[in-house]
Amino acid sequence: MNTDELRSVANAIVARQKGVLAADESNPTIKKRFDSIQVESTEENRRRYREILFTAEGIERTLGGVILFDETLRQRTRDGIPFPRLLADRGIVPGIKVDQGAKALAGHSGEKVTEGLDGLRDRLAEYRQLGAQFAKWRAVIEIDERDIPSAFGLRANAHALARYAALCQEAGLVPIVEPEVLMDGAHGIERCEAVTAQALQAVFAELDAHGVLFEGMLLKPNMVIAGKKCAHQAGVEAVAEATLRCLRRYVPAAVPGIVFLSGGQSAEDATEHLNAMNALGPQPWQVSFSYGRALQAPVLAAWQGREDRVAAAQQALLKRCNLNGLARDGQYARAMESTA
Ligand code: 13P
Repeated sequence: MNTDELRSVANAIVARQKGVLAADESNPTIKKRFDSIQVESTEENRRRYREILFTAEGIERTLGGVILFDETLRQRTRDGIPFPRLLADRGIVPGIKVDQGAKALAGHSGEKVTEGLDGLRDRLAEYRQLGAQFAKWRAVIEIDERDIPSAFGLRANAHALARYAALCQEAGLVPIVEPEVLMDGAHGIERCEAVTAQALQAVFAELDAHGVLFEGMLLKPNMVIAGKKCAHQAGVEAVAEATLRCLRRYVPAAVPGIVFLSGGQSAEDATEHLNAMNALGPQPWQVSFSYGRALQAPVLAAWQGREDRVAAAQQALLKRCNLNGLARDGQYARAMESTA
């Protein structure tokens, strides 16, 4: 394992003002996104859309990495440049989603475990050859009113995340470790904090047991936030404080960066929460973003599948990147939404 390279790639992804664009939607997921703007999900439309994202001018100032899906890693620009090379030439680290989705966990009704470990060593070797320098694996943790998630469900997901992370580092890829506690449900922020704490505890115990180098990985957690259906939504400061309290208790200082998922928050809320955390002062790790919907929803809305709206779509992406870059320094204000 080349530990210097792992450390340096992990640090580059979360360099000052930088974060990650998650553009790794599987084909069923991107179809849902395209359906919302009445664009057919053909291979060419998916390629074109990703090309619009990756060629937007100025995004390299605030994007340290982009996560791709298997199909996208193999696609090229109209001019024939492979996407991973295009990104690397712009100083953006190309990454790859390697999990194969969350499936029902046998014997544990209502819980899921993420699959994709079989054959992963060989897939990672190929992805590295295709230019990927980091990877992502997402575990999905649902909260219900009673006893979900179970301690066993958390452990099963943590174990899979750790096996994946160890394989990545063996292959020379920086693992992004993503235990996502879902925002769905009616639970309050306290329950989210308790479950996030249990999930992180389980994940770091397994990472340690598997010999994962903390300095050569990134953590992609949810923010600590009330469920979408909860009548009482905590304010921005409360979310920032609860999230940092939870992370400071369970995430080793050796981890170079935390890159939050947006999880269904609006683009503005995701930026405002990130900003509030960074405004609370320096933390042991970089506090950054790895947003999918919170970066792309405004792009899809501007694009609508139309060639005459490509410039507007790229502007929408640049705006979100710039505002999240400011939030990395605690310099964002909601009022900038109308002027940026
Ligand atoms: P969202 O920011 O839309 O939650 O997506 C991030 C991601 O990559 C989930 O795995």
